Amino acid sequence: MNIVLIGFMGSGKSTVANLLSKLMEIPYIETDELVFQKTNTHNMNEVFALGGEEFLRQIEGVIAKEYASKANIIISTGGGIVLNKSTLDDLTHPSGRVFFLNASFETIMERLAGDKARPLLKQSVSDVKKLYDFRLPLYMNYADEIINADIFSAVEIAAKIKVRVSDGF
Ligand code: S3P
Repeated sequence: MNIVLIGFMGSGKSTVANLLSKLMEIPYIETDELVFQKTNTHNMNEVFALGGEEFLRQIEGVIAKEYASKANIIISTGGGIVLNKSTLDDLTHPSGRVFFLNASFETIMERLAGDKARPLLKQSVSDVKKLYDFRLPLYMNYADEIINADIFSAVEIAAKIKVRVSDGF
């Protein structure tokens, strides 16, 4: 079974994946890192320069297919992974538990203040909020479990996930 972490940019997926990987002694991957490897880039600005968001989604889809047969890994996803159902389906194949790290828009804005690495944050705050509002039901819909990422620390979230999945491994 794979453990798949979803959530908006800045919700803490990478930090939690890293901690959980140590806690459970299973490997983790980051879809963003795999995108960089596959496209010979170093950051999302370079990926977007190659073909914009559409290109990123295509590469995410290809990566998800490659990982479709792998089992027992933790997958930290890019915030837009929920935009293509088939990508998420592949990442949870043959079995996976999806955890949504649910952070409020305010928390996210605080955490990502001054961030230059995320092309989608180059829009106005109200446009980022629109993106957040549009995505929220998608995260909710795909989540097997929703974790409040405002009140729990990354360490606490990792511990919770470990407890929730310990029967499945
Ligand atoms: C994106 C989130 C980013 C990255 C890219 C697009 C998104 O990942 O994949 O900049 O569409 O929300 P993080 O969620 O790790 O920031």
